[in-house]
Parts: sequence; C-alpha cells; structure tokens
Amino acid sequence: MSEQTVTVRLRVNGTPRELTVPVRRLLSDALRHDLGLTGTHVGCEHGVCGACTVLLDGRPVRSCLLLAATVDGQEVTTVEGLAADDGTMHPVQQAFRDCHGLQCGFCTPGFLTTIAAYLEENPDPDEDDALEAVSGNLCRCTGYQNIKAAVLRAAELTRQRAAEGAPS
Ligand code: FES
Ligand code: FES
Repeated sequence: MSEQTVTVRLRVNGTPRELTVPVRRLLSDALRHDLGLTGTHVGCEHGVCGACTVLLDGRPVRSCLLLAATVDGQEVTTVEGLAADDGTMHPVQQAFRDCHGLQCGFCTPGFLTTIAAYLEENPDPDEDDALEAVSGNLCRCTGYQNIKAAVLRAAELTRQRAAEGAPS
C-alpha cells in the first residue's frame, strides 16, 4: 500500500516552497532531504540535543519533533537563512568565528539559530543569561566556554551594527 502524501506550502528562508511529502515526514527530514537544506543537522532525533533547531515564525523549534504537514503556511528559517542577502554573516555567525565557538561543528547550526532567536528577546545578556541561552543545546565536544563567549559577542556586534545603521 502506498503511503499517503500531503502538499505543504511554506516560506523557507524568505522563499515560497511547496513540497509533497509523506504525511509522517519530519520537518527536519523535509528540510534536509526534500529541500536540500543540509545545514540543519540531526543528532538525537528525539528533541534532546538541539542540533535540528530551526526558527518557525521566528521562534526556535526542534524540527525533529515536528511533522512537516503541521507547519503548512508558516515561515521557517534555517541556518542557511541567517546571513544577509549580500553574504554578510549574521552577528551570531560572526561571533562564533570571532570567539572560536565551534569545534567539530555538528551542533553549530542549532546553536546559531537558538542564539539568534534568544538575542531577539534578550538583546543585552550577561554571563548567566548566555549560559541559559545555550543550556538547551548539546555540544559533544564540550566547548561551551567559547559558545557562551559568542553569545555575549553576538549581542555586542548586534548593538554595533545597529549604531552604525547596518542590517543585523
Ligand atoms: S535532533 Fe532534534 S533535538 Fe536532537
Ligand atoms: S562543536 Fe562538536 S558537537 Fe558541538
């Protein structure tokens, strides 16, 4: 018996996309396999590690816990959508580079999307806030010090860019 499919219409990184997928297709798999956006990584596949985090209408979600069919009509931002159209890195991406916030990089897309959303809500974090911001994401390389530093640096860069009138 062939599997039932559903057509889903989304905006992904600002572009309207339409895909027909099995009704049980996870959003993470739809992004990676159907749309080719392999920047979103999959670790635990049960909502623990945060590697698969994307933004759904601006809010961070575990894409391994959502069916693609349930996000019909919504806006998804993946790590590929964080940089500006001219290639300028998002402040969080620049901060990870500045602070050496990644080792193997597997967890990094999830940290980037998570922190980007966190700073929208909390633009002036202190060290405790930075720890809280990343506490839901696992890095198996245990490099949290530099990731925490990157949260603070990203906030600083965002303020600098705002003062300069540059897009963040
Ligand atoms: S792969 Fe989704 S939380 Fe780990
Ligand atoms: S940088 Fe290796 S898992 Fe996070």
